[in-house]
Amino acid sequence: NAPRLLAFAGSLRQGSFNRRLIHVLAEGARSAGAEVTLIELRDYALPIYDGDIEAAGVPEQVRQLQQLMGGHDGLLISTPEYNGSMPALLKNTLDWISRPTADGGSGVALFQDKVAGIVSASPGPLGGLRSLLVLRDALAKLGLIVVPQQVAVGQAADKLPDYGVLADDRQKHQVHGVGAAVVRHLTRAGVTS
Ligand code: FNR
Repeated sequence: NAPRLLAFAGSLRQGSFNRRLIHVLAEGARSAGAEVTLIELRDYALPIYDGDIEAAGVPEQVRQLQQLMGGHDGLLISTPEYNGSMPALLKNTLDWISRPTADGGSGVALFQDKVAGIVSASPGPLGGLRSLLVLRDALAKLGLIVVPQQVAVGQAADKLPDYGVLADDRQKHQVHGVGAAVVRHLTRAGVTS
């Protein structure tokens, strides 16, 4: 059974560098043998987490994301850096998924022992490196194993001209390596859904 990975970028905008980069990471994981489901968070349009919304009835899009997480063995994420941290979009998405599921199960359990690979992109020189530290910590708190390999792509306006195109061969190889590391970890652990 091929490992199944859920992939998304933490940006909504057209022309997002991270939406371009997640295709490169997905390609690396596919070449290493994974089945990758690449989704756009724009399609889910989650409200900001609000306990009153939850009490009144959890949005259908949250249920869809919880089901997707439950049906995959790991995550691939490309994150922007906002003021040295991950964007609210990503945190909000993780927070909603972590809430109790429709059958009364634990949302956090959906992440438990799954494996994640993370990358970032920014027009700046550091490539959003600081956001990777924050995201790594948040994913670990949810019980995911985040592979040590990671890549922060700086000068993204030059390096990421289109979806799935990373114009720096060394970095492209490294990003593919993040995907391959996730697959290797899952395969060694014998954990596939
Ligand atoms: C940014 N940006 C930014 N970049 C960076 O390298 N370090 C940072 O701390 C920040 N902070 C920041 C805060 C806010 C509120 C915004 C909107 C932007 C710039 C950011 O990297 C740039 O907008 C990227 O293009 C965002 O990623 P996407 O949308 O291209 O994937």
